[in-house]
Amino acid sequence: MAEKKMWGGRFAEGTAASMEAYSESVSYDWQLYAEDIRGSQAHARVLAKQGFLTEDEAAQICEGLDKVKAEIEAGDFEWKTEMEDVHMNVESRLTDIIGPLGGKLHTARSRNDQVALDFRLHVAARLASWKEYLASLIEVYVARAEEHKETLLPGCTHFQPAQPVSLAHHLLAYCQMFKRDLERVEDALKRVRVMPLGAAALAGTTHPVNPQAVADDLGVENIFANSMDAVSDRDFALEAVFTGSLIMTHLSRMCEEVIIWANPNFGYVKLPDQYATGSSIMPQKKNPDACELMRGKTGRVVGSLMSLLVVLKGLPMTYNRDLQEDKEPFFDADKTVTASLGIMKGMLEQLVFVPEKMLATVERGFLNATELADYLAAKGVPFREAHHITGAAVAFAEGKGVGLENLSLEDFKQFSADIEEDVFGVLDYRACVERRTSPGGTGPASVNKQIGDLKVWLEAIK
Ligand code: ARG
Repeated sequence: MAEKKMWGGRFAEGTAASMEAYSESVSYDWQLYAEDIRGSQAHARVLAKQGFLTEDEAAQICEGLDKVKAEIEAGDFEWKTEMEDVHMNVESRLTDIIGPLGGKLHTARSRNDQVALDFRLHVAARLASWKEYLASLIEVYVARAEEHKETLLPGCTHFQPAQPVSLAHHLLAYCQMFKRDLERVEDALKRVRVMPLGAAALAGTTHPVNPQAVADDLGVENIFANSMDAVSDRDFALEAVFTGSLIMTHLSRMCEEVIIWANPNFGYVKLPDQYATGSSIMPQKKNPDACELMRGKTGRVVGSLMSLLVVLKGLPMTYNRDLQEDKEPFFDADKTVTASLGIMKGMLEQLVFVPEKMLATVERGFLNATELADYLAAKGVPFREAHHITGAAVAFAEGKGVGLENLSLEDFKQFSADIEEDVFGVLDYRACVERRTSPGGTGPASVNKQIGDLKVWLEAIK
């Protein structure tokens, strides 16, 4: 029979070995040790402030916890499965070091509010880091966009070439996705940064706690309003993993494009060696594995989101042990999101764009057809008719194996008397982009404004 548990006062028998293995969380929640110790130190200081511990006792507890932390960081700490989780491992070692006084630390506190605090502090720190990763990724997108204001590529709908756009405009579209992600991280942080200690097991406590003082000590803005919600709420973790899922979804869309662009049939990009791999059998190959893995790992993060949603969906009030299943999905999502953002940044910095290849596909897809229709409409031809005339001109040019811009004025005249010499200026591919002066369009003024606005915003969020 195993030795008595810290909670084992009423138990005559120990836990079955299989149950111990099933219920332990220390194999992964040890990662919360720094937050656990920080939270306990704040708790001890406030217990002293409230007159429950002497200043000297609080100081001994805080110093003892510093020693525990140093042991953990030096790799000298023995994590014990039979202690279940990080909280009991840390507390029990504290008591080894400072004696029975260690047992006073858990006054006015339950592991239920303790774990909620630790996890919130951890998620908050990780989200702050995601924010930095997102900002530096956006910076790289902006820099690459600035290099490629003049580069044209086919803008697609239905993945069919539609109208020419600048590569800058295409890349800046991703900036908007990642900007929203960053704003979502900031917004989620407001609800993560809520201090739950003082809720105790579920109902509050008879001890004179001071949650606001703990929050102030920890530099967390808000405190819980309802003790039952405080110990059972994991919305904050869910929001974080949702935010991560959307970040991955955006990264995955970019990956999909890079994979297509790197295919020699497109040839729009050359993959940097550092982020590609070769084939063990086909010597000519350079595979976009970083992108494929990121696209694949997106499934993992979305899977974590599903795990968390399902863990929460049937829980009656308040803390239930099911909630222990909240950490691994977040840890795994965090690892994947952080690594992916870093890899995308590195890859995008080195990605070689091939403007000639992009232009070649612009020139063979009748991407200026809309211009001809708009040109006729501007001359008073009803748009439906202009569309029809243009379609006929496209079919004619296709038959000759040339682009619209290669037809002669006589050729055009067969389709409409309204077409004049000035049509050639309109059909020019660069003009297609430059004439799109509508707000947020691909025209140069809009692209410059997008870049300028993003730079101002990046500066402001620093
Ligand atoms: N390891 C537990 C968890 O992660 C800590 C809280 C345990 N609380 C309890 N009442 N058993 O949820």
